[in-house]
Amino acid sequence: MSDFIPVAKIDDVPDPGSMLVEADERLIVLIHAAGHWYALDDVCTHDGGPLSEGPVDPEKRTIACPRHGAQFDVESGKAVSMPATKATVAHEVKVKGQLVLVRLNDCL
Ligand code: FES
Repeated sequence: MSDFIPVAKIDDVPDPGSMLVEADERLIVLIHAAGHWYALDDVCTHDGGPLSEGPVDPEKRTIACPRHGAQFDVESGKAVSMPATKATVAHEVKVKGQLVLVRLNDCL
């Protein structure tokens, strides 16, 4: 398993909000919602839309694809609304001091 990689400072991402980051040459959407942090592959499983450009819903804990509106659970990466049916990859996140760190998962 890979190590935790610093990807942002806590002040970089509003709550609710998200930011596109890169970790080990992989594009990740870092999500801040209701005081918690999440990280998903920045890829909608419907047709590759950039999740980092979609809105975060802190109450439902979802992020929506900007292309056709599919929603994904920010914790599990599971697709919770059409037209996406498959999960995107969820990664581990931890905060250390002022830094947000991500540990990549290779697969679903
Ligand atoms: S590409 Fe994301 S919903 Fe279609």
